[in-house]
Amino acid sequence: MKTHQIALIPGDGIGRDMTAAAWQVLQRAAGAFGFALDGIEFPWSCAFYKETGAMMPADGIETLRGFDAILLGAVGWPAEVPDSVSLHGLLLPIRKNFVQYANIRPHRQLPGVHGPLKASTFDILCIRENTEGEYSGAGGRIHQGTPDEVAVETSIFTRKGVERILRFAFEQARTRRGKLASVTKSNAQKHSMVFWDDITRELARNYPDVEVTSYHIDAMAARMVMAPETLDVVVASNLFGDILTDLGAAIQGGLGFAASANINPERNAPSMFEPVHGSAPDIAHLGIANPIATVWSGAMMLEHLGERDAAKAVMAAIEATTASGVGTVPGKDRTDAITAALLAAI
Ligand code: IPM
Ligand code: MN
Repeated sequence: MKTHQIALIPGDGIGRDMTAAAWQVLQRAAGAFGFALDGIEFPWSCAFYKETGAMMPADGIETLRGFDAILLGAVGWPAEVPDSVSLHGLLLPIRKNFVQYANIRPHRQLPGVHGPLKASTFDILCIRENTEGEYSGAGGRIHQGTPDEVAVETSIFTRKGVERILRFAFEQARTRRGKLASVTKSNAQKHSMVFWDDITRELARNYPDVEVTSYHIDAMAARMVMAPETLDVVVASNLFGDILTDLGAAIQGGLGFAASANINPERNAPSMFEPVHGSAPDIAHLGIANPIATVWSGAMMLEHLGERDAAKAVMAAIEATTASGVGTVPGKDRTDAITAALLAAI
């Protein structure tokens, strides 16, 4: 039997509850479709940091490298470890070290879910650059704590990095409705963002079948609310993509539905699958968080592993569950009840 080796990193807060729920659903799908998911759990988290002084062991990245995929819950427990420490100690190094440069985030409204918009027919695929840009971490602070204090944080955009994410987005558009929206802020940021627009135009020549439009991030934010049905694939830099995908989650009906895949398209290192939401300390372990975002991320993982039919079945189970009214309203159904409905639907 085909066996996929999965590294499970539940992380913090609701991440732990959500990976536990999603893992049950994925195991059910594996059983139904005749393959095995062999999961090894790593306790890397803020609790691990409190014990050891690091978010993961020094050889953590090398340990993960041998896996076929990583399923991650959420990272962050700001009451005990500053987010800037926990995220730069676990989530962000995984994305960067494994060159998971394409962060894919689908935004559409599931059946039975009523989001805040009147129109609910949108189907957007956000592609977020995931290894450089505003998240490069280049910079520093000098004269700390004095009136002369200075903080510098430099965005880094490389031709290699921008070309590969745009090419990836063009390819995605090709497999969908053939429309690509490239998002920058080149009216204000005259170096990096004009560079991005230039490369968009250069690559567009190789994709005459894709209709590409450049938007400024502010206009895109408005469009995602006012006319989301006009969008197909949306590609943006790391920070812009981060912000737009929380907006995408909001128009879907909430963060409980927003899935994401951190993809290494060259497949020379594992890809990582995680919900868009965070650890939600306020509702951690209350049993009321919605596992759908993590389960959907798990479906994306199955797809990536080549288990297409199982991925489709998990998506169908999510849709059947929400269509029946379960898991559609934040806080209405308990995690267990939603998980049970998903399991029954596989
Ligand atoms: C996300 C999250 C992360 C990000 C945080 C936790 C660093 O918001 O995956 O969208 O900004 O990438
Ligand atoms: Mn985010």
